[in-house]
Amino acid sequence: MKPLTFSILRLLSDNEFHSGELVARAMGVSRASVSLALHDLSETGLTLQRVHGRGYRLLDPMQWLERDAILRYLGRETNNFNLEVLDIVDSTSTYLLQRAARGSGAGDERIHVVAAELQTSGRGRRGRHWHSGLGDGLAFSLLWRFQHGASLLSGLSLVVGLAIIRALESTGVKGGVLKWPNDVLYNMCKVAGVLIELHGDMLGPTMAVIGVGINLKLSNITHARIDQGVTDVYSISGEKPDRNRFLAALLISLTGALREFEREGFSRFKQEWVAHHCCENKLVRLGFPDGSSLDGVIHGVADDGSLLVRTSAGVQSYNSGEITLYKME
Ligand code: BTN
Repeated sequence: MKPLTFSILRLLSDNEFHSGELVARAMGVSRASVSLALHDLSETGLTLQRVHGRGYRLLDPMQWLERDAILRYLGRETNNFNLEVLDIVDSTSTYLLQRAARGSGAGDERIHVVAAELQTSGRGRRGRHWHSGLGDGLAFSLLWRFQHGASLLSGLSLVVGLAIIRALESTGVKGGVLKWPNDVLYNMCKVAGVLIELHGDMLGPTMAVIGVGINLKLSNITHARIDQGVTDVYSISGEKPDRNRFLAALLISLTGALREFEREGFSRFKQEWVAHHCCENKLVRLGFPDGSSLDGVIHGVADDGSLLVRTSAGVQSYNSGEITLYKME
């Protein structure tokens, strides 16, 4: 999608009809260019009405991310962030990793965050695709530098999931649970996912790119693209959240949790994490990347965040694998 398309969509985000001629004049382009720019919006999930004699109108217009509003909502944390808001990018995590590899931002003490309105190749865990449309969720990545080595960071992904739960609760969205290691679910349907990529030595320092995707109000098109049980904040709370405010709440919660984790490690979070675990004391199947699996009952998590599973061989700890519940509740 071209910058012109984004500019026109912004203009159309007021729920009103706009004639092709007025849009063209406002953009300083021809009517044909407007028509071409709006020709294929299928990747956005947006629905555009074209009515002869009246012009264009977006149905259920989206709320755009506004950097200034997000910074304002960050309050006294504002100066701690270097925040970029992009219209379109392949993946905010790929973008941040590439920028860090090029050394950009070196020497900047602030926390680098990149949020995008639209990702063309959003990445999920285990090589999966993360689907989202324009304005129907939040997609952002945050870069955090740890002095520790990666060997001490195994609880990190659990801490990030918990920080999302805390942020949801702080904005009145209660009842979220976690599925090890860090999926955030409501009624066993996924509302948020986390992708963590670590770079550095086992002994440190380590750079973590933490990518977070949250479903706020999924369009039918995005919904149809996702091949697992999925939900969004709108379905849970009945309210369409303010995207700028929500992103700020997430950043505040995340950075607070990351500082706490740096100081005190995962054991500090363990009890709160287990209290939110959807599968505690449940019979599950744990599937491993090589295709093998085992059945057992979840018995909490260890101090390093690994999953404890009771099988006929006793309680064993695992730091990879995908849980499937035997009985969805
Ligand atoms: C998962 O549940 O599989 C993880 C999903 C992570 C998606 C987010 S969206 C922002 C960031 N950029 C990406 O490409 N992925 C993460």
